Order: sequence, then structure tokens, then C-alpha cells
Amino acid sequence: MERQLMRGAVADLTQAIGHTPIVRLQRVAESVESNIYVKLEYLNPAGSMKDRVALNIIGDAEKRGMLGPGGTIVEATSGNTGAGLAMVAATRGYKCIFVMPDKMSKEKVDALRAYGAKVVICPTAVEPSDPRSYYSTARRIVEETPGAFYSNQYHNPANPEAHYLSTGPEIWEQTGGEFDVFCSGMGTGGTLSGCGRYFKQKRADIKLVGVDPIGSLYYEYVKTGRLTKPFSYYVEGIGEDFLPSTMNLDLLDEVIQVDDKECFAMTRELARREGIFTGGSGGAAVVGAIKYAKGLREPKNILVLLPDSAQKYLSKIFNDEWMRSNGFLADDDTEGTVAHVLKHKPHRLITAPITATVRDAITIMKEHGISQLPVLDENGRHCGIVAEIDLLNYLVQHEGALGESLTELIESDYATVTPYTRIQLVRSIFNDAKVVLVVEADRLLGVLTKIDIIDYLASHRA
Ligand SMILES: Cc1ncc(COP(=O)(O)O)c(C=O)c1O
Repeated sequence: MERQLMRGAVADLTQAIGHTPIVRLQRVAESVESNIYVKLEYLNPAGSMKDRVALNIIGDAEKRGMLGPGGTIVEATSGNTGAGLAMVAATRGYKCIFVMPDKMSKEKVDALRAYGAKVVICPTAVEPSDPRSYYSTARRIVEETPGAFYSNQYHNPANPEAHYLSTGPEIWEQTGGEFDVFCSGMGTGGTLSGCGRYFKQKRADIKLVGVDPIGSLYYEYVKTGRLTKPFSYYVEGIGEDFLPSTMNLDLLDEVIQVDDKECFAMTRELARREGIFTGGSGGAAVVGAIKYAKGLREPKNILVLLPDSAQKYLSKIFNDEWMRSNGFLADDDTEGTVAHVLKHKPHRLITAPITATVRDAITIMKEHGISQLPVLDENGRHCGIVAEIDLLNYLVQHEGALGESLTELIESDYATVTPYTRIQLVRSIFNDAKVVLVVEADRLLGVLTKIDIIDYLASHRA
């Protein structure tokens, strides 16, 4: 006999996904004239907007016959997608196996196990191609487990489609389309690409703004088409060190860079001054929206998506000891920022236009005694660097070709930071990158090498 569903109830938890509120920020965005609205995706049943993704990925796999009764969902995930998949799997009787790197917090592992999932921990310090890596392990488990389905959020079109079918239309219905800008962090790109595609179809002039942490490769790739060296950062869930196929960067109107410290400060402010209990990527998205708003000529309605809850970050972002030991509390900045180094090193910014020849580059570098030369495109934006070693290799391989354009020599061995980036972070960037370009609002402000930092720090200790 079919049971009658009581009025006011939903039949299962997956029907409680979505319908999250949109709230106007009252205090933390007072510095801008635009109205900033936040969509509280942390109120979803498993705690993030990834619940929508999990539901769509599982529904899509069922429709395609890739997942059926008694099946096992396998994912190489560390966070929200895992929780979403585990929650939906619990409602439908599927098993879940999650493969995670060993650096993940105990709380995250415990949360997935609480949903009945199996968690396999793999070493972080191995190459992705190594059979022990978590990518390889996930693939092996899929091959060896009967009825296994690899949900693969970085390359599964059902991820952005979830936002195209769910988040986007829900926002449109809630707001009647009365917003001008949609701003969100960029991880797999599911949120931005899925919502973005929906909004642009509804109203082509809606602006899409992506927020990217310093250290991720999206920002530089969008601005210059170059895949520069990624480096590590603390904010979780956003930024990548490769390009997932779920990200459609063509839709983007602007990308804003943020750093860990400002993201965490805003995450704490949101809880203390607005009562909004979101995680670090939510703080990042609000910082990005405020920065974007500061560059606007007239006030706009900006809608920001807050992906997950502060609950998962209590032992980090909301823990003073952790914040202090990583130099994220306001009073910890004894070393200063990139702006301080630039001020200490008054130098004229030497660049070459994209139209320059190899000979021009050699002349400029010799004249100014520099070993790295940023190259600017027709619009005055930087598009890479030419280094001494590139010139040397070129001259050895191309005898007498001094009149050739230098475009072929431009390389990507650099990292970009803002004037507000902390010196502590720049020090760690130099473990991976040869040179650091300082960029603000698309304008190149300076070039830093290790000796500039050494010189600055030494002068402060003298
Ligand atoms: C906390 C958090 N914020 C932001 C994102 C980024 O969203 P998307 O993957 O849709 O780009 C993720 C994705 O994993 C996340 O877990």
C-alpha cells in the first residue's frame, strides 16, 4: 500500500536540497555603494552547494544505466562533493568509497564515515601517475569493484549541469533576474559555468565574476592565456593547479584575485558582524565581490554564492592559534607586504612591447642590468616574461636571428601577486617560481626576484 505523504513534508532528504535564502549584507560591505547579496548554500542538507551536484551526478548516472541497485559510487574527493554524494547515496541505498589525500583533516574523514562511506587514504607526496596517488587508487578501485561508478566531478558534465538546472533557475526565480553581477569562487568551475550559462541565456548583459586565490592558475590563464606555476595556499575548495573540463572560462567577464589572509578575515567578519556562518571560500567570494564593486562606476546589485559552512573550519579559520601560527591575524604582520618591498626598492618598471625583436630584448636587458623582462601586449597588459636563459637558448639554436619577434621566447615561469600579498607568502612562492609579477587591476606594478626580498628583509634587521 502506498503511504500518504503528510502535508508540509518532503518524501526524502534529496527533495530538501536547494531553496536556500538570499540575504543582503548589512555591515561588512559598507565601503561600497553597490548592494551585495549572498546566497546561503551552506544551508543545504549535507552542508554545501555540492548537494545539488551530487544529486544531479547520481541521477544522470542512473539514467544512463551507469549506476543501479547495489552500486558503489567512487570519488577522489576531500570535501563537500563527498558529503553530498554520501548523503544522496544513503537515501538511495548505494555504497560509497572515497579516496582522499593523507593531509585531509580528521573531521572531514569522520564526516564521510558517519554517512556510512568507506574512506581510503593515500599519500600526498607522490606524482598523480604513481599507482599510490589518489587519482590512480580511485581508478583502480573503480576497475576492481563490480557495479562501481566513478563520479569524477572535475570532468563530469553533470556537475555544471546541476547548476544550470538547479542553482541558476532557482536564483532567477527568487530574484526575478534583478541582479547585475554574479560572483563565485572557481574550483571545478561547476557553479560559475552552470549558473553562468543559464544567466547569460536569460540576460546577456549579466556580468560573471570569478574569484581565484593567489597560487591558483586560473587568474593568469584568463588574463594572459599562460599556465604559470601554481603554488600552495590555504583557502579550501577554490583555485586549481590544472584546468578541469567542467570549467568554461569563455563565459567569464572578470576574474578577481584574493589572498588567504583577506579571505579568512572576511570569513570571520561575516560570522561576527552578519551572523553568516560560511567557510573560507565564502569569505573569498565576498572579498572578490567588494573588490569588483570598488571598480564600478555606478552601484550594482551583486549576487555572491556562499558554498559551504564555517562548521568545517572551526579548528582553522576560527581558531586564533592556527590563524596566528600561519600569520593570518592582523597584528602578526611583522614582515609587511609586497607594497612595502616595492616602496623600499624604488625602481622604474622596465618592460618590452610584444612587438619587440630579440635584439630589442637583449639591448633593454643589457642597458638596465636585468635578467627578466616582462612583455606587455597591445593593451599594456603583461603577457609573460623573457629571461636571460631563454635568450641564451634561442641564440644557440637560431644562429643570427636577432631580428625575429620575441613572442616565441615568452615563458610562464613566474607567479602573480598583488601589492597586498604578505612577504611571508612571497617567500614560499619563491620555492616554486623564479620571478614574481606584482599586478593590480590588470596593471603591472613591479617585478620582484629573491634578492629584492632578501634586501628588504636585511634592511629591516640592520
Ligand atoms: C568550499 C567550496 N567552495 C567553492 C567551491 C568551488 O565550486 P565549483 O567546484 O563549482 O567551482 C568548492 C568546490 O569544491 C568548495 O568545496
